[in-house]
Amino acid sequence: MSLVSMRQVLDEAATGGYGVGAFNVNNMEQIQGIMEAARETASPVIVQASRGARSYAGDRFLLHLMLAAAEEYPEIPVVLHQDHGNSPATCLRAIDLGFTSVMMDGSLLEDANTPADYEYNVAVTRAVVEYAHARGVTVEGELGTLGGIEDGVGSGEVNLVDPGQAVEFVARTGVDALAVAIGTSHGAYKFSREPDGDILAMHLIEEIHRRLPDRHLVMHGSSSVPAGLVRRINAAGGRITAGYGVPVEQIQRGIRHGVRKINVDTDGRLAITAAVREALAGEPAEWDPRHATKAARQGMREVVAERMRQFGQAGHAADYLPLSLERMRERYVATAAVA
Ligand code: G3H
Ligand code: 13P
Ligand code: ZN
Repeated sequence: MSLVSMRQVLDEAATGGYGVGAFNVNNMEQIQGIMEAARETASPVIVQASRGARSYAGDRFLLHLMLAAAEEYPEIPVVLHQDHGNSPATCLRAIDLGFTSVMMDGSLLEDANTPADYEYNVAVTRAVVEYAHARGVTVEGELGTLGGIEDGVGSGEVNLVDPGQAVEFVARTGVDALAVAIGTSHGAYKFSREPDGDILAMHLIEEIHRRLPDRHLVMHGSSSVPAGLVRRINAAGGRITAGYGVPVEQIQRGIRHGVRKINVDTDGRLAITAAVREALAGEPAEWDPRHATKAARQGMREVVAERMRQFGQAGHAADYLPLSLERMRERYVATAAVA
């Protein structure tokens, strides 16, 4: 078993100057596709479950699939991460279940829709940090709200992260990693044109990294939405009109400036939809669903392996031995005593 805290994986990534993809999962084929990609590329990996995923699959089903992945692939450091926890209660439950990392998304209220005020964000994030660090578990926070500058969600410019506030937020909460809103959004419809500095604010990452060189930065909504996958889906009977995603070169620029965790969900979903549609359309007489689910697993594997190479995590699985959560807890205690 090679379960590891996210803090250790991101610390190692900072030392090595690379980024680590955090891939969303809802089912066995996605988890297996990710693990096959991790073995193929010798990568450490962050496997993450949203609240939606936990309610789709059921907490225990999802958790045990993830634990099975860690057991089957002992040479791969695996982080089990709760994505977008909407309240301290959600995060505490994930920690008690056995997740090694949680995101407390206090940028939004518990309804996961309404932008929250800064003091609320500090209070809920600090509460989760106290509970998590006492158990050696990592915490990611978020500042600014996702939604994109041009898609009408959120309130545009004012929801971008404020670098000065980022410095204060980290000091007051003690988060291990900070997600910063720079104009991206979740899903396949991020930008209606190739993003430039006006709609994808990479300069904010550079500025925050200058002010917080030791804190791990996180990019959400970082699927690239490859035109080739969209074309394949539509050629096999789909009808989607996806826009532009986040170009891989922009993510690589972020990695040069402190981005250590890159959230990718949509690209996996697109790869699976393309593979399943092609499998079903290509063999209309096939009635065994494994024909399509095998294709799904392979589609996931291919896109994840490509991202692992592009983010630079490939080849780093064996760089270090996983520290236990107990050891991580001792480290948090020691740092607090020094501070
Ligand atoms: O948090 C963002 C991910 O894309 C998860 O989406 O809630 O539909 O699983 P989901
Ligand atoms: P995408 O929708 O761009 O894949 O973003 C996923 C994400 O940020 C999950 O938290
Ligand atoms: Zn996200």
